[in-house]
Amino acid sequence: MSGKRLISTEITEEDLKTEGSLRPKKLSEYIGQKKAKENLRVYMEAAKSRGETLDHVLFFGPPGLGKTTLAGIIANEMGVNFKVTAGPAIEKPGDMAAILNNLQEGDVLFIDEIHRLNRQVEELLYPAMEDFVIDIIIGKGAGAKSIRLDLPKFTLVGATTRAGMLTAPLRDRFGIMNRLEYYTTEELTEIVERSADVLDVPIEHDAAREIAGRSRGTPRLANRLLKRVRDFAQIKYGNEITSEAAKKALDFLEVDSFGLDNTDRAILRCMTVNFGGRPVGIEAIATTIGEDPGTLEEVYEPFLVQNGFVLRTPRGRVPSKEAYKHLGIPVPEE
Ligand code: ADE
Repeated sequence: MSGKRLISTEITEEDLKTEGSLRPKKLSEYIGQKKAKENLRVYMEAAKSRGETLDHVLFFGPPGLGKTTLAGIIANEMGVNFKVTAGPAIEKPGDMAAILNNLQEGDVLFIDEIHRLNRQVEELLYPAMEDFVIDIIIGKGAGAKSIRLDLPKFTLVGATTRAGMLTAPLRDRFGIMNRLEYYTTEELTEIVERSADVLDVPIEHDAAREIAGRSRGTPRLANRLLKRVRDFAQIKYGNEITSEAAKKALDFLEVDSFGLDNTDRAILRCMTVNFGGRPVGIEAIATTIGEDPGTLEEVYEPFLVQNGFVLRTPRGRVPSKEAYKHLGIPVPEE
């Protein structure tokens, strides 16, 4: 498997199969995101004690940090159904109307990538979120009639990697907003240990820490690396994930000590070598290394910026001194 596929935070089919079982179902089992958890605990408790449905919730932040997991936990803790869909999957207002019309009182409707809803679909959501009604147009031309349908009260949970791309009217209709943060190595270590326990594979604490340290602050990657390392351990190390097994496997997978993979290193090499450290735009980097600009911007760049490898300046992106050092390239004179 190439490093690129390994580290990509897109959900693969394999993830869908095993991720489900690794996802915590209760807030008390969920590790990290202290702020979001505290918020949700208070709002859910308050709504429950009033016998009301929870206000609409928006989660935003980089991919793989647990937006879907938290949405599932909300449904579970509120004792209601969990319906899942995604922005690009809802093509017509009629699709959205059908989804809304099939909800039951209190249900959680999770819309992933909510920034990718088209305009007409989004407009149908406004009265649905605010007043729990939808207006449906029947017929065409002069004879067309609008009829209003009442919906059960429901909770919309939206998730987006691009909060800035949400329109103001949609954003304003969420009562609860949570930004999800990258996880610390300690939190990821705990997650890896919990996941290993669920997968029933023994793991040394230092091995869990090694995996955590190379997971770019992202549980989805930590769990994916854990599964690859487990394969390695199973074949070569008598089924136990020792610290040595973890290190060897991770080196083999070309995930370095900062968790950077081949694509991350290609970005940094492009910025330092091809563009000589001058300010550069995302499109130029994407074309040079043959990646999709959207993936670079949403998946790769946030981590490189947060960890100080890339600096965003008004004139464009520039590599930091750390980037040169990490690649083993001499830092140019000021
Ligand atoms: N698995 C994936 N994300 C998790 C989290 N935040 N806590 C516990 N287990 C997880």
